[in-house]
Parts: sequence; C-alpha cells; structure tokens
Amino acid sequence: MSEVRAILPALRELRERIARAQSLFVLTGSGISSESGLPTFRGVGGLWRTHRVEELASPDGFARDPQLVWTWYNERRAAHRAATPSVAHRALAQLEAQHADFTLATQNVDSLHLRAGSKNVIELHGHLREARCTDCAARRPLDEPLPLAAIEHACGGRWRPDIVWFGEPLPPAAWQRAIESARRADVMLVVGTSGLVAPAASIATRYAAAAYVIEINPDPTAISTHVDVCVRGRASDVLPELVA
Ligand code: OAD
Repeated sequence: MSEVRAILPALRELRERIARAQSLFVLTGSGISSESGLPTFRGVGGLWRTHRVEELASPDGFARDPQLVWTWYNERRAAHRAATPSVAHRALAQLEAQHADFTLATQNVDSLHLRAGSKNVIELHGHLREARCTDCAARRPLDEPLPLAAIEHACGGRWRPDIVWFGEPLPPAAWQRAIESARRADVMLVVGTSGLVAPAASIATRYAAAAYVIEINPDPTAISTHVDVCVRGRASDVLPELVA
C-alpha cells in the first residue's frame, strides 16, 4: 500500500476542511514542478549543485559574467517551455475554480501554474516570460532565448531576466498582496518548498496566524514544526485527493 493510500481517511478530513474554507491560500515551491521534470533547488540534481548561487542568481554574479548568467537562464527557460503542468498544478487550478477567495503564491519562475489554468497567481520571485532593463523601464518578451550578443540595451543598461535575485527585495506590490491574502486565509496549503528562503517562508510561519496550515511534502522541512498538519507525500499524489 502506498503511503498516500494509507492516509486516505485523513485526507478525506482535510478535503472537507478545504471545501469549507472561506479563504484559501496556497504557497508553492520547486517541489511541485519536480514531477513536470524540472529540478528542485536543493535536492539531488538541484540547480545549485553545478553552479554557485552567487555566480548565477545575484546582481554581482550578473555584473561579473552576464553571458554565463544568460546561458543558464536561457537553458532554464527552454526547460520550462518543454515541461507540461502536472496533475498537482492542475489540481490547484481546480481548487481555485471552487473557491471565490483563492490566492496562489509561488516561488517558482516556470509559469506552470498559469499554464495549468490558475488565475490569481502571485509570482514572488518573478518569472522567465520577459527580460527587463537594469537601468530603464524597458521590457522585452522571452519567446526566444535572449541572444548572448544582445545583452546590452540601447540605453546603456543590460537586459536581465525578470527574476528576483539573492539580495534583492521581492516586488513590493506582489509581497503586499501575498501577506494580505495570507492573513485573511482560514486554510493554507504549503506545497513542495523547503521553507529555507525568506521572506517567502514567513508567509507560512508568520502571516498565516488565522489559517489551518497543511504542508504537503515527502520530507520534513524548516517549516514543518510551524504547521498544523504535515502530509508526507508527493504533490501529484496528494493534491488530487484534496479536491472535492
Ligand atoms: P527547494 O529545492 O529548497 O525545496 C524543494 C522542496 O520540494 C523540498 O522540501 C522537497 O522535499 C520538496 N519536494 C520534492 N519533490 C516533491 C514532490 N514531488 N511533491 C512535493 N514536494 C516535493 O526549493 P524551494 O523551496 O522552491 O529562489 O526554494 C525556494 C527558493 O530557493 C527558490 O524560489 C529559489 C531558491 O533560491 C530564487 O531563485 C530567488
């Protein structure tokens, strides 16, 4: 019997609780996209295994070697586009359709929630659909890889991915919307995140005071002791069971 099958009765209770929720909030991390074939950040084969974070995802790393950074983001962009949303992404879109007050905040930059049909999505760490200029307000779509010969922008700045890098603040409007929705929530699902990255993790530990918090993750995380219940399973096994 699979682990998830063993806890089906408990999942039924959670499903009813979720169905009754007046305000539902979901926080996701890279674990939810692992079943779409995209590597997590800190797991086996995680992205930081082959490169140092500061080389790839920081303003300093970009200033030092923009071509290396763009090579990596062009590869990730291609992997995102080749991936398809999993049943876990689709289950969350279904949950949204059943709840008038539903917010999904994701740390992922892969657009898979939007492609699965989720609508009220807050992309806390940005996305890879566009590049923006470091110096002016210009933006350009990333329908194609950014040519490495075209990193310099006419204004004197450089094109960079529309991603939040280490050491940078989250976009203020997105963050404000996330914490307001989290404070309002009476049920929160925390799916596929290690809870190691601030401030995103504080949504579950600090701003979910009024919510019954359900963690869905095969492994214990930094926030497991802060939540009301941990469901130890893969997102694609558990989430479809939680949709009424
Ligand atoms: P991590 O790699 O830190 O954590 C991934 C989590 O997903 C782990 O807790 C795994 O146990 C869990 N997991 C793996 N497979 C799963 C599955 N099938 N179902 C459910 N859970 C599964 O990734 P994040 O928490 O997303 O930020 O990392 C947060 C941020 O750190 C990223 O957004 C990125 C990185 O620095 C930036 O780039 C700004």
